[in-house]
Amino acid sequence: MNKMVHLANILVIDDEIGIRESLRIIFLDTYEVHLAANIAEATLFLKEIDIDIVFLDIKMSHENGLDFLKTIKTTYPTIPVVIITAFPSSQTAIAALRNGAFDYIVKPFDYAEILETAKRALNQRSSDADKENMIYSLRKAVHQNFFSTTEALLHAIDAKDSYTAGHSKRVSFSIAFISEKLGMNTLQTETLRYGAFLHDIGKIGVSDFVLTKPGPLTEDEFEMIKRHPDIGYKILEPIHFLKDSLSIVRHHHEWYSGEGYPDGLKGDEIPFEAMVLSVVDAYDALTTDRHYRIKYSHKKALEIISERINVQFAPSITEKILSIIDKYH
Ligand SMILES: [Fe+2]
Repeated sequence: MNKMVHLANILVIDDEIGIRESLRIIFLDTYEVHLAANIAEATLFLKEIDIDIVFLDIKMSHENGLDFLKTIKTTYPTIPVVIITAFPSSQTAIAALRNGAFDYIVKPFDYAEILETAKRALNQRSSDADKENMIYSLRKAVHQNFFSTTEALLHAIDAKDSYTAGHSKRVSFSIAFISEKLGMNTLQTETLRYGAFLHDIGKIGVSDFVLTKPGPLTEDEFEMIKRHPDIGYKILEPIHFLKDSLSIVRHHHEWYSGEGYPDGLKGDEIPFEAMVLSVVDAYDALTTDRHYRIKYSHKKALEIISERINVQFAPSITEKILSIIDKYH
């Protein structure tokens, strides 16, 4: 046999040495075989080796094979698991198939049948991997396309108001970092990152005279500014994969007290992600030069935000965000 060819890795998990050895002999010429006598050993193999198929005894004397099957399917969902059973019609075997086992082999073993099962399991694994790769690249391409398009929109605002594009990119970058530190999951982090990137997109619909006015705004002018979350929401509403980020865009200027805009939501009515964005948004705005004032120091910005907790910003989450900003700024 040509040793340069990559052999698929098979992991056999069985507490009976006789079974482990029989399977080792069956697979010996075709695959790289790893033998585990218990779940602890199997866990180590799964961590250290890129296992392609698992053969698992579901009825071991001291351990629950069915539970371990569930663990494998959760942690390594693409690895096919073939169960070893004496009675394929038993409740446990049926439960195993319902819990994602690829197939079963029956004791005593039929060599040809076992090799055939291993071959089918491998084919399934490689077609699953192809599909996954394709989905990943497609998703990546869609996201890249999407970001270049929205970046163009941001640059369109930039032509009116040089602050917004840079601000949106910075807030989007820091919010991804902060949400990870807050223990949010990948999905929430992504939702926040998109929401942050596009939160001020609605400023495209606000006159540049108002956006760049160096002095204080009149009441009418402020009313015009207050329309940007709703305009942004309407611009992005048709984009299906942004649906989770829409409420962030709409509600990033709501206040904890209910005095914010556009909907005057208060307390827990404000989506959590929008509340997170409002703090990070405020910090970036305060520490950047604006048309109407020069920037505040990091320390002063933290002070201003802290003083507005319970009025503009929610307690607890704002304190956590400020301490992350303070630690890593
Ligand atoms: Fe805004």
